[in-house]
Amino acid sequence: MFSHTLSQSHQYTVLDDQDAAFEAFLQAYPSYDSTWKLDELRANEYTRLDRQGHVYLDYTGGSLYAESQLRDHMALLNEGIFGNPHSKNLTSLAMTQLVEQARDYVLEYFNASPDEYMVIFTQNSTGALKLIGESYPFGPGDNYLLTFDNHNSMNGIREFARSKGATVTYIPLIFPDLRADESQLTQALKTAHPDKHNLFAYPAQSNFTGVQHPLEWIELAQANSWDVLLDAASFTPTNRLDLSRWHPDFVVISFYKIIGYPTGIGCLIVKKTAAQKLRRPWYSGGTITFSSVVAFNHYLTPGPAGFEDGTVNYLSIPAVEIGLKWIEAIGIDLIHTRVMCLTGWLIDRLLALRHSNGRPLIRLYGPPNTRMRGGTIQVNFFDPNGQMFDCYALEKLANEQRISLRAGCHCNPGARESALGFTQEDLEVCFRDKDHLTYGQFLRVIDGKTTGALRASLGVATNFLDVYKYVQFAGSFIDRTVAA
Ligand SMILES: Cc1ncc(COP(=O)(O)O)c(C=O)c1O
Repeated sequence: MFSHTLSQSHQYTVLDDQDAAFEAFLQAYPSYDSTWKLDELRANEYTRLDRQGHVYLDYTGGSLYAESQLRDHMALLNEGIFGNPHSKNLTSLAMTQLVEQARDYVLEYFNASPDEYMVIFTQNSTGALKLIGESYPFGPGDNYLLTFDNHNSMNGIREFARSKGATVTYIPLIFPDLRADESQLTQALKTAHPDKHNLFAYPAQSNFTGVQHPLEWIELAQANSWDVLLDAASFTPTNRLDLSRWHPDFVVISFYKIIGYPTGIGCLIVKKTAAQKLRRPWYSGGTITFSSVVAFNHYLTPGPAGFEDGTVNYLSIPAVEIGLKWIEAIGIDLIHTRVMCLTGWLIDRLLALRHSNGRPLIRLYGPPNTRMRGGTIQVNFFDPNGQMFDCYALEKLANEQRISLRAGCHCNPGARESALGFTQEDLEVCFRDKDHLTYGQFLRVIDGKTTGALRASLGVATNFLDVYKYVQFAGSFIDRTVAA
């Protein structure tokens, strides 16, 4: 099935003949063979990658769209006459119908019952999280519980919780796999008072380590009087989220991470019962059925509209349905199979890279196998003396090979700090002179420690050649020193 050739192979330090590597890969991961359809799609729908010689390995940053997604969306816009929804004129009604159709399809895609759940369109996952943060009825005696492994937009909810007097508790991660400490979690879940508001928040898949935290925690937490907020932003692009099997109270999603296009639209999938608990701190155009200046009062619109401030991104919302249907036609399980085969091979090969003195080139942050993890592979490179290469410099060097990786902490400071071994003491100094420290000075305060790592993430259009080229790139650092 592997028909591509390494047209620029002279640029890479060849560790293994590409065809031999592919044969060995197929023997180790035979189910890859069943995903040949994705090679066809790569050739027909993601042609720009090979045409431009790009190795795109930043799918957790954002997925890539198929060419037909754009064509179908443009055809819809070219044919239609669409006005701003929220009115009863013809063109407004036509648009409203498409927005509502997309909303229904999101539920269908995630197998969520419309009796149980509703979809609120937001700008992105962050927008969905802010909606929850500002309207969850935190108060003294209430709890916000979360894992160290969380995106900053989940961490940020703690500021709402804290300012309203709720207790914020973090569950640490256990080295080296960086999974959450389940015994601490179980203990913490038992501390909730059933008459209080208790919110437990975690990502289904880490955007830093690729760890998949158990979805079984949802029921466990709910049985202990917690509402559960599941961040599904980095899980859903390559995994099936079945909301008839799992019933979190809140789920946040950014569509561009699943379908590449459009950007600027995410959603909150919320249980109708949980939505009733939310208290919006304000109202705006689009969210009310009636408001009065004279009477100083308003009625919030029931349902999703009460949470969608102003005009939704109405022309783009139909592209969400187009994109999700595209993924549905391919099959999310097929994408998952392929990504996990490639992830397993990539991890094996990166970990096998050694300097002549026997020292490993790579340190992996996260599970060294494919058990309960996704296709996000986070590493740092070390030289033969054990000195770390700067991940930002590596990112730039990868650019020279047209390989897109991502360096940094990926908005996940808790996973970063656990992975890189930062102590509370290390970090408290950074905040001692918070108002006067510049970013440059801040970096010097934590001198000697890197602030990030290098992330590769795989997705719908990744093929063997992509990960092979990344391994070749990594291998070119064998026996190179940081100083050199
Ligand atoms: C796990 C996770 N949660 C939340 C977000 C925030 O997504 P957005 O920037 O689209 O709001 C991201 C983005 O990378 C993410 O990976």
